[in-house]
Amino acid sequence: MSTTRTPTLPSRLPNVGTTIFSVMSALAQEHGAVNLGQGFPDFDCDPRLVEAVTAAMQQGLNQYPPMPGVPALREAIAAKLANLYRHAYDPGTEITVTAGATQGILTAILCCVHPGDEVIVLEPCYDSYGPNIELAGGTIVRVPLTPGSFRPDFGLIAAAMTPRTRAIIVNSPHNPSATVWTAEEMQQLAALLRPTDVLLISDEVYEHMVYDGRPHVSAASIPELAARTFLVSSFGKTYHVTGWKVGFVAAPAALTAEFRKVHQFNVFTVNTPVQHALASYMADPAPYLDLPAFYQRKRDLFRAGLQANTRFKLLPSEGSYFQCVDYSAIDDSVNETDFCRRLTTEVGVAAIPLSPFYADGFEQRIVRFCFAKKDETLQRALDRLARL
Ligand SMILES: Cc1ncc(COP(=O)(O)O)c(C=O)c1O
Repeated sequence: MSTTRTPTLPSRLPNVGTTIFSVMSALAQEHGAVNLGQGFPDFDCDPRLVEAVTAAMQQGLNQYPPMPGVPALREAIAAKLANLYRHAYDPGTEITVTAGATQGILTAILCCVHPGDEVIVLEPCYDSYGPNIELAGGTIVRVPLTPGSFRPDFGLIAAAMTPRTRAIIVNSPHNPSATVWTAEEMQQLAALLRPTDVLLISDEVYEHMVYDGRPHVSAASIPELAARTFLVSSFGKTYHVTGWKVGFVAAPAALTAEFRKVHQFNVFTVNTPVQHALASYMADPAPYLDLPAFYQRKRDLFRAGLQANTRFKLLPSEGSYFQCVDYSAIDDSVNETDFCRRLTTEVGVAAIPLSPFYADGFEQRIVRFCFAKKDETLQRALDRLARL
């Protein structure tokens, strides 16, 4: 018998396979397609940000920072949240720097979800939520956003709440649908949670990408929500550096204390020079205040091209850097994943189907494009899509 036998490992996540993002990106590469699938910019960040990281490294800021994050960065985050959302988080006890929003969400879930607890997710939703809840031993309770409009249905959410509900995860601006919750919807959420002890995990990674003058209504801006919220955001999205994987979680001191217990034995700390660079870069609010105009122009360029030259039906893109389209006028017979495969291999543009954002693969003939791309990339995609 061989002595080099790897033991059989029962999977903690038996239902998880390769994500649709990896599948479509690989297919895009294989076929030389313009990749509007995976959500990341194909342009560089501000060179001043790279210079700031270099400077921090050259100054010798290369050892472990304090467990919750570099104090200057936590102070800069607190100042921004106070300015924008009028909530004064204490940088000492209420803000933690994380390895991207993904770790922030996992850690928030691990620290508050006990085996048997229920966590409500609103589908379609970002793909890490479900596996994170499973890892914590929680039960995923899936509530659909209204098909077609992707607005929250508070009747359905209320009906899904039980005495075992520990938390609800909300994501606005929303990936993949590009909807933005209104102030009224956030107030409805607050009213729904008011008589309960349900926590809110508010995924606000696209907080600075809202269009047509609409505000981003952060959970932090509604005091009764802030009191029960883990607010999660990502510098990767805001500053065009998705590969840096730095984000933060802001939460009341009692929740942050539990969050940090898990955080310190999970990643312990996050990249020091990048934190110093972000702290100094954040002194200037212009880069994030200018972001809506920057992306709105790209959205409008992309939408105008699709509208003029394709048979796609465009869904509203109120926020995030996504544009969803209904392709049923082009081919109503093919499912979303097959349509995306054909779009990638035959037309040369990669998109993402919405069905993998639902546990049951719900089909609505809608696919998602990412417009966080150079104008020439968007134009190249539009030229190819004009065949449709
Ligand atoms: C809704 C949502 N949440 C979280 C993340 C992850 O952010 P990060 O790259 O900072 O981990 C993403 C990235 O695509 C996202 O779309």
